[in-house]
Amino acid sequence: MSSAPSIVILTGAGISAESGVPTFRDANGLWENHRIEEVASPNGFSRNPALVHRFYNMRRAALSTVHPNPAHQAIARLQREHPGWVTLITQNVDDLHERAGSPEVIHMHGELLKARCAQCDEVRTWRKDLDALMRCDYCRSVGKMRPHIVWFGETPFYMEDIATALNRAEIFIAIGTSGHVYPAAGFVEVARQAGARTIEVNMDVTAMSDVFQEHRVGKAGEKVPALVEELLGSTRG
Ligand code: OAD
Repeated sequence: MSSAPSIVILTGAGISAESGVPTFRDANGLWENHRIEEVASPNGFSRNPALVHRFYNMRRAALSTVHPNPAHQAIARLQREHPGWVTLITQNVDDLHERAGSPEVIHMHGELLKARCAQCDEVRTWRKDLDALMRCDYCRSVGKMRPHIVWFGETPFYMEDIATALNRAEIFIAIGTSGHVYPAAGFVEVARQAGARTIEVNMDVTAMSDVFQEHRVGKAGEKVPALVEELLGSTRG
């Protein structure tokens, strides 16, 4: 067994900001131009599926115009080279961690490049637009295909795997997340109770900054590669 520390990384919209993906709560963020309950809730989807599909179709299409940045690449390097566990949990629905080469990514808020049938729960890779008249290839229901995204009021995915990782974490790092949305905002407390060293990487003070022991203040694209270099250096001895 390796004696290298178990690392858990939580990423949020800030890690993809330098790639050109808008965050949610910063100026010009996604929520500034949209009412959350209209485009990111089960009720909003029942009321106006065409609007919800349009919102996610635009975000899915925009993925082809963006690329991973040095922060995504550094995390993928850490996953490849660190001799202990590195669990990567993201709240992001883009695929930039995968494109940077991360071998495993826990998408707790879902993925833009997947669609799910609300009738039979079948999940499929989805690169095209979705619309309200589509038929599920699996159960043949019409109008039930929805983005495989966790909306407000729904339970995030993989919570058991996440709890296991947090309870064995020796280092917990949160990158580019504002700490406004639970349960992700509470992960740092769970990791601290498990005895982890906690590090926050953000351009700003966040709702959770007080709970972290260490802060790397600045752009993820600069701070994350430096942190990864440090972590790999310390395990090399
Ligand atoms: P937010 O938009 O709430 O927060 C983005 C954070 O990234 C802020 O704290 C910024 O200071 C920071 N930031 C911006 N640019 C940065 C950069 N270049 N380097 C480092 N930090 C930077 O996004 P999240 O916290 O990810 O949920 O939002 C959490 C959830 O709220 C999302 O997953 C989404 C949203 O509602 C769902 O849709 C379910």
